[in-house]
Amino acid sequence: MTATRSPREMADLQDFSADPFTTMDRLYRENGAISELGAGPMRFRVALGTEASAFILANSDLFSWEAAFTALAPLTGPSALLVTDGDRHRRLRRLVTPALTARRVEHHLGAVTRHIEDAMAEWAPGDLVDIHPPLRRATRAATLESLFGAPAVDRSEGLDDWLHDIHRAIDTDVVGGSIDRGSGSRVWRRALLARSSVHRWVVAEIRRRGEQDTPGDDVLGVLLRGVEGARLTDDEITDQLVSLLEAGAETTAAQLSWLLYCTLGDRRLWVRAAAGLDPAGLDRHVTEAMRLYPATAVISRKVATGFTLAGTEFVPGDLLIFSPFHTHRLASVWPEPQRFDPGRWDPGSERYRRPAPHEFVPFGVGPHRCIGANFATMAIKAAFTAVAARIDAELLTTEARPAGLIGMHPAEGITVRITEKR
Ligand code: HEM
Repeated sequence: MTATRSPREMADLQDFSADPFTTMDRLYRENGAISELGAGPMRFRVALGTEASAFILANSDLFSWEAAFTALAPLTGPSALLVTDGDRHRRLRRLVTPALTARRVEHHLGAVTRHIEDAMAEWAPGDLVDIHPPLRRATRAATLESLFGAPAVDRSEGLDDWLHDIHRAIDTDVVGGSIDRGSGSRVWRRALLARSSVHRWVVAEIRRRGEQDTPGDDVLGVLLRGVEGARLTDDEITDQLVSLLEAGAETTAAQLSWLLYCTLGDRRLWVRAAAGLDPAGLDRHVTEAMRLYPATAVISRKVATGFTLAGTEFVPGDLLIFSPFHTHRLASVWPEPQRFDPGRWDPGSERYRRPAPHEFVPFGVGPHRCIGANFATMAIKAAFTAVAARIDAELLTTEARPAGLIGMHPAEGITVRITEKR
């Protein structure tokens, strides 16, 4: 790539920053698989379509996460999974995985239901409610309790705002260096301050746990216990917990809101959900919401070893992004792609088509595939079931506009009128 960019690439960058979702559509129509955007440190390529996602899926070894996210390390901590590669990443991942298996996550579902029910307690028939903020707070509290235990939730004053500040900076930064990290950037400065507050809070929790007789059964307890005699250092545990909190709550809450938005938008589906879905039906709803509104709308990669994709040469250091959001709405893959249709995932339906692995990637692909996928999926199901069982509501938000790229959420929230409390 040359250093000078045409006005066209700068204009495309502006369009992408303002509305990445329709811009990706246009870029794919106009340029095919690869589009180049921006200039200098804000230069990157967008790789779209099935050929691109199949290539990225099959060639994880050509990319470096450490290089892609190194600028975020002051926020995530140097040993967060997302900012490490190779043997270091494998070791960390081996020690974190046991804390988030489906069996472990099951212990935490009661907390999810309880926090969601608390959030709904104040809603009464006739109320107009934007359900996204209270459900987000409830998801945060449930994640916090799963990581650190119930008493920690009572000690968590301030944490919610700090995490929000960190999330905002990371989401703004997803295309690599798109925010100015100099002293002029308020977003970045606030996020760094928030990170040190969260760090102090987590260190205090670890210390407190050290004074107890047993490590406990929450995620912190499992990390402290270690695997077959091996254990993360306290600093590594701190980095994992900060990033689990950060990566987990915002995405899961956004995904839950999209699921409610989609289901409430179709009265027939909502009535059926309120009556109680069987496990397969619930699965199909969650999967379909993840297809249409994947909370992580784009994923970035930095090239470690050069290659050619769709006739375009990539050299080490190039940044590229690909998009679950775009892939999940390709008309060549999904009949009626814009329609929320849980039935398309029913093997007994004539609309069923099993997607290839690169066609459905809500949790990413390769060695860094989301380690919280079990937690997210099971928590969303528990939360959705709790909401559908307790309230009936009329959806007032039409055409919800997505905002944010790694925690893609409804920009103006999801407003409903509560019609019944059960
Ligand atoms: C619906 C909710 C969620 C979505 C859509 C989501 C999506 C993703 C995606 C796309 C990646 C990157 C994969 C890649 O680069 O290929 C990722 C990584 C990650 N996620 Fe999630 N995630 C969700 C929930 C969670 C939860 C609940 C947790 C923790 C409790 C979590 C923790 C992480 C971590 C630590 C990583 C980095 C893994 C690594 O680098 O090895 N996520 N997630």
